[in-house]
Amino acid sequence: MDSAKGSQAQCESLHTDIESFFQTAPPLKDHFDTSRKLREFIQQNSPTTGNGIGRRIVCVTSGGTTVPLEQRCVRYIDNFSSGHRGAASTEYFLKAGYAVIFLHRRGTCQPYCRSLPEDSLLECLELKEGESSIQVRESYSEDVKGAIRHNHEAIKEGILLKLPFTSIFEYLQILRMVATSMNSLGPYGMFYLAAAVSDFYVPWETMAEHKIQSASGPLDMRLAQVPKMLIMMRKEWAPVAFCISFKLETDTNILLEKADMALKKYKMNMVVANELSTRKEEVIVVANSGRITVRRDKTNSDVENPLIKLIVDRHSTYIEESAKN
Ligand code: PMT
Repeated sequence: MDSAKGSQAQCESLHTDIESFFQTAPPLKDHFDTSRKLREFIQQNSPTTGNGIGRRIVCVTSGGTTVPLEQRCVRYIDNFSSGHRGAASTEYFLKAGYAVIFLHRRGTCQPYCRSLPEDSLLECLELKEGESSIQVRESYSEDVKGAIRHNHEAIKEGILLKLPFTSIFEYLQILRMVATSMNSLGPYGMFYLAAAVSDFYVPWETMAEHKIQSASGPLDMRLAQVPKMLIMMRKEWAPVAFCISFKLETDTNILLEKADMALKKYKMNMVVANELSTRKEEVIVVANSGRITVRRDKTNSDVENPLIKLIVDRHSTYIEESAKN
């Protein structure tokens, strides 16, 4: 088979895998509600609808997807991600004037809550004398006020839309919905794909319905490969959007090689390469113009601060160049 025929065959097989993934996935429970919220959010913020507000819109994905092992799920495989990167990046995008669709794993880190303790309800609140009311502990007062103020303002202004997911099925169905809705934004739309997405899954129709029994002996299970949705993003869902994917590795020797490969293969505008243990200190941004190492500048600062500045800058150039073509 010549190489053109080979790549066409590969493309067709990917399409079949993707079709089959979506056709067999359990339907989203709140499909209509999510779709309505998305439509309204994009309509309200879109710079292309001429309602005078006009913001760029970014979809930030955050947290890890799960792979259920049973339809009535008791056990699942998880992908590591605290959601810190996505939450911090959302704050900096909002600060830069973007409207943000925060597609996040339920229960992971939320924007403006990064400085609050894990068990914040019990840690931050205390009973007042006589137990007649509740107050915020003095030591957390500024952090709690800041979190409430920023979060409520962003929601009230209609510039932050939070969409939760848990499983790989939910994540990819919502991502597709967001991407096809944002297609109308052309180059003003951005995808910042920081979620840790499962590479393997159990197709719904082959999955056990009930809890797998341990009495049956060792578990032998074949996982199918999750089709790479970055290809669909580029080819069909939102081809003109500014698209940033992430590359996470634990072995630094292969990190940049893999990031370069992702940039070319999936035609990303940028790939953010990070190593697990140093991900909060530095990342390397790989683009066609070269590589840039981004480090957090001082203690107490976030690497996402200079990272989002760089991305916003490149996005502006991309919009200008798209207008010329
Ligand atoms: O949340 P934190 O604790 O702060 O950590 C942040 C992070 C390390 C999770 C984040 O910075 C990060 O690197 N996220 C991407 C992790 C990941 O899934 O990498 P990957 O090499 O498996 O995938 C690379 C890209 O392909 C990702 O952008 C993913 O969205 C995409 N992908 C993956 C699988 C798949 N089937 N389809 C995809 O499109």
